[in-house]
Amino acid sequence: MVHLYLTSTTLSAILAFVIYRISRVIRERKNDHAIAESHGCLPAPRLQNQRPFGVDRLEQIFRADTESRLMELFLFHFRQTGSTLEQVFLGTKAFDTIEPANLEALLSTNFKDIGMGPRRDITFPMFGDGIFTQEGSAWKHSRDMIRPQLMHKQYEDLEVFRQPTDDLIQNIVESEGIVDLQELFFRMTLDVTTAFLFGESVRSLKAPEKTGEQTFADAFNTAQSYIIKRYRLLDLYWLIGGKTFRKACDDVHNFADQIIERNLSRDHSDDSSQKYVFLDAVAKGSADRTAMRGQIINILAAGRDTTACLLSWTFFLLVRHPAVMEKLRSDIAKHMRSGLNRNDLRSMDYLQKVIKETLRLYPSLPVNTRTAINSTILPTGGGPDRKSPVFIPKGSAIAYSVYSMHRRPDLYGMDAEIFRPERWDEDMPINQNSINAKWGYLPFNGGPRICIGMDFALTEAAYTIVQLLQRFPSIKLPEGELVELVGVEKQLTTLVVSITNGCKVDFR
Ligand code: HEM
Repeated sequence: MVHLYLTSTTLSAILAFVIYRISRVIRERKNDHAIAESHGCLPAPRLQNQRPFGVDRLEQIFRADTESRLMELFLFHFRQTGSTLEQVFLGTKAFDTIEPANLEALLSTNFKDIGMGPRRDITFPMFGDGIFTQEGSAWKHSRDMIRPQLMHKQYEDLEVFRQPTDDLIQNIVESEGIVDLQELFFRMTLDVTTAFLFGESVRSLKAPEKTGEQTFADAFNTAQSYIIKRYRLLDLYWLIGGKTFRKACDDVHNFADQIIERNLSRDHSDDSSQKYVFLDAVAKGSADRTAMRGQIINILAAGRDTTACLLSWTFFLLVRHPAVMEKLRSDIAKHMRSGLNRNDLRSMDYLQKVIKETLRLYPSLPVNTRTAINSTILPTGGGPDRKSPVFIPKGSAIAYSVYSMHRRPDLYGMDAEIFRPERWDEDMPINQNSINAKWGYLPFNGGPRICIGMDFALTEAAYTIVQLLQRFPSIKLPEGELVELVGVEKQLTTLVVSITNGCKVDFR
C-alpha cells in the first residue's frame, strides 16, 4: 500500500515536471518569437541538403577533408548561399557566418550571450582545464596568469628567439640544399614556447630524439585529428574516441609532465634575470599537478602550431612570388642594424605587410565555433536581401570562418585570392565601413578572448624571417615543386591549417 502511495506520488511529480518543462519550452518559444519579431528578424538563407537530417553535409566534410580541400568546400558553401547561412547538421539547426558585423556581435557586443559550447567536453581528454577550455572566472584566472608573461617588455630584446633560430639555421646548413621548412618550424616554435614560458627550451631542433619531440609531435597531431573529428559531430562528439586517441592524449600528458618535472626540480637560485616565468606562476596558481598540466598543454597548443603555420605559409608564398621576396630583402636591408630589437622589426614596413597578407590568406585558425547560451541576434544576413537581423535561438551552434571572410572580393577587392602585400597600402573596400575595417580582418580573433600572444607571435615570425633572409642569399622554389593558384594547394586542417606536402625550399 505504502509502495503504491509512493509510486503515485513519484508519477505525479514526474508528470508535473514534464508539464513544467513543456510549458517552459512553449513560453521560451513565444518569447523568442516576440523578440525576433520586435527586432525585424528574418531567417538566413538555408544551405540545401540532399539527404535527410543533413547527413550529406557530414559526408561532404569528411570527403573534402580526406582530399585536403576542406576550406575550399566551406568557401563554396558561402559563395553558393550567402555570407550568413543556416544549415541542418545531423538533425540540428546551426548557423555559419563570415559577416564582420555579425562577428562583432558574436565576439564582443553580445559576448555574455555566447559560450564555447561543447568545446571543453570535446577537447578535455587532450587539453584538460586551461585557458582555451575554460569560461567565466576560471578563464579570467588563466588569462591573468599568462598576461604578465606576454607583455612585450619580456621579449623586447629578442633574446628568447636567438638560440632557436640559430638551431634552425644550423639544421638548414647541415641539410645541404632542399629542406622542408614546415617540419623545422614546428620544432622551432616548440623550442621558443618552452624556453619563453617554462624557463628552459626542450631544444628539439638540436636533439629531437632526446627530447621525445617526435613522440610528442606525433601524439599531438594524432590527438588533434581526433578532436577535430569530434568537433564536426557537435553533440555526438563522444562517438569518436578509442584506444589510439587515449594513447595519443597520454603521450601528450607525459610530455607536459616531463616539462613540469624538469623545470620545477631545476635549481632557480642562479637565474640571473628577474623575468616572469609562466610555469612558476602556474605552479603557484594551480591546485595540483593535473591543473598545471592542463595549463601547460593549452599554452603549448596556442603558441606552437599557430606560429609554425604562419611561418610555413609565409615561405610557401615567398618562394612562389620571387618579386615579393626581393622587395622584402631590400626592406629588411634598409632597416637592419646591430642590436636588432622588437621596434626595428615593427619599423620594417614591407615585412609587416607580408606577414599581414599571409595571415589574411592563411589565418592559422581558419574556422572557429561558438554556442548561444542565451537566445541572441546577429545584426545582418536574413531575409530576401540578406540584410535583416537573424534570430539565434538559445543552444544553437554558430561557426565562423575567417579563412572564407578574408577572401571576400567585396571586402578585399576583385583580386582577393591573390597574394599581394601591397594591397595594405591601398584603399580597399573593407575600409569604406568602420565595422568591416575592424571586424573583417581577424586572424587573432577579437573581443575579450582575442589572442593574448598576438604581439609575441608577430615578433617571433618577423625575427625568424629576417634571420633566414639575412643568412641565406638564395632562397628558391625547388625544381619540380608545384605552383598552383593560391588556395588550391592541398591543405591539412586540424585545429590549424598547414600544408599537406610541407614547405620545400631550396637554400643552395
Ligand atoms: C600566428 C600565430 C597565432 C595566431 C594566428 C593565433 C590566433 C589565435 C586565435 C584565433 C585565438 C582565439 C581562439 C578562440 O577564442 O577560439 C587565439 C587565442 C589564444 N592565443 Fe593565439 N595565436 C597565435 C599565437 C599565439 C602565441 C605565440 C601564444 C602564446 C605564447 C598565443 C596564446 C593564445 C592564448 C593564450 C589564447 C586564448 C585566449 C583566451 O581564450 O582568452 N597565441 N589565438
